[in-house]
Amino acid sequence: MVTILSKSHADRNVYPSAGVLFVHVLEREYFKGEFPPYPKAGDSSNDPITFNTNLKGYPDRPGWLRYIQRTPHSDGVLYGSPTAEHVGKPTIIEITAYNKRTFETARHNLVINIMSTEEFPLPYQAEFFIKNMNVEEMLASEVLGDFLGAVKNVWQPERLNAINITSALDRGGRVPLPINDLKEGVYVMVGADVQFSSCLREVETPQNQLRCSQEMEPVISCDKKFRAQFHIDWCKISLVDITKVVAVHSNRPDPGTGVLPDIGEYNPPSESLKSRDYFTDFLITLAVPSAVALVLFIILAYSMCCRREGVEKRNMQTPDIQLVHHSSIQKSTKELRSMSKNREIAWPLSTLPVFHPVSGEVVPPLHPDNYETTSMPLMQTQTNLQNQIQIPQQQSSGKWYS
Ligand SMILES: *[C@@H]1O[C@H](CO)[C@@H](O)[C@H](O)[C@H]1NC(C)=O
Repeated sequence: MVTILSKSHADRNVYPSAGVLFVHVLEREYFKGEFPPYPKAGDSSNDPITFNTNLKGYPDRPGWLRYIQRTPHSDGVLYGSPTAEHVGKPTIIEITAYNKRTFETARHNLVINIMSTEEFPLPYQAEFFIKNMNVEEMLASEVLGDFLGAVKNVWQPERLNAINITSALDRGGRVPLPINDLKEGVYVMVGADVQFSSCLREVETPQNQLRCSQEMEPVISCDKKFRAQFHIDWCKISLVDITKVVAVHSNRPDPGTGVLPDIGEYNPPSESLKSRDYFTDFLITLAVPSAVALVLFIILAYSMCCRREGVEKRNMQTPDIQLVHHSSIQKSTKELRSMSKNREIAWPLSTLPVFHPVSGEVVPPLHPDNYETTSMPLMQTQTNLQNQIQIPQQQSSGKWYS
């Protein structure tokens, strides 16, 4: 237990040089000791482990440091090129390992102390595009060593350093189809202290430029030194002599460190709010509409109660003779109505049963109690009459036809 604790608090120190490619492998084996072993021996080498790396106290890594881990069963790699401006203060990287089987984590600190180099920067820089490699394959020290050895062979410099490595995917490349073991490709920049060799300059000849423009492979005499292991796209080689590069003044704003400046404590707005005057709001939304409504109400009420022109006005406008006619008609109607009221309750003559057209006998309604004019035919048909020869007693209406 004590050993594990001391282990997890141990900081690793590394001392890369500015201007030289820095590669640090996060070995799964190294972190495995912190996780409980598998119940079965032999399985433990297969724990899926992923890593999270960040600058201590910040959510991400510094801009120059990149990270890649292809699968949880492969090692992670931190890589990048520190520049002279990073020299001095140590960069503390927090590395958190997640075991995806047990869901446990372990944390280590990696302290990167960037050293300055007097040979920085190497003046002659060449960038190769290697087609048959992925970036993490190229980062393996033996592969990178092989490549630098081949470059040294064709260039013959005193000093040669790898400066930078970039996956082709970061430069707009495409993820290859999963056939024939195709690789993404990787750009490797190397720096040296002597002029580019004639072999490296062969691609600049007119014949090779023509072949490149026709998407054919240029003829490079030293390509066979690489061919066994590295397929180099010579058309994409770039050779830069930084002593001759003219400083280009760009209007691009300085990107800055990527860390926001400390603006002090957050001051929320004060709780005591200024009181607000609602009088105009009250006038506009309530008082004025109510006043208008009241005026309308008064006008309406006045014209309804006091300005009515009724029977008198009508009588004045109508000729007298019409009024006389009218009142006499009304009078006789009323009289008739009152007379009919005096009768005993009986069906009006028009609703009474019709007379038999042949015998002259009265045919009574089928249902005298529930008399319906709609269902009662005006004239009885012959067939109906067969059953209704007998006249039933008609009490109520008897006195009208006897
Ligand atoms: C290394 O390559 C990356 C990606 O292309 C780039 O952002 C970075 O500036 C390069 N670093 C140096 C020192 O050239």
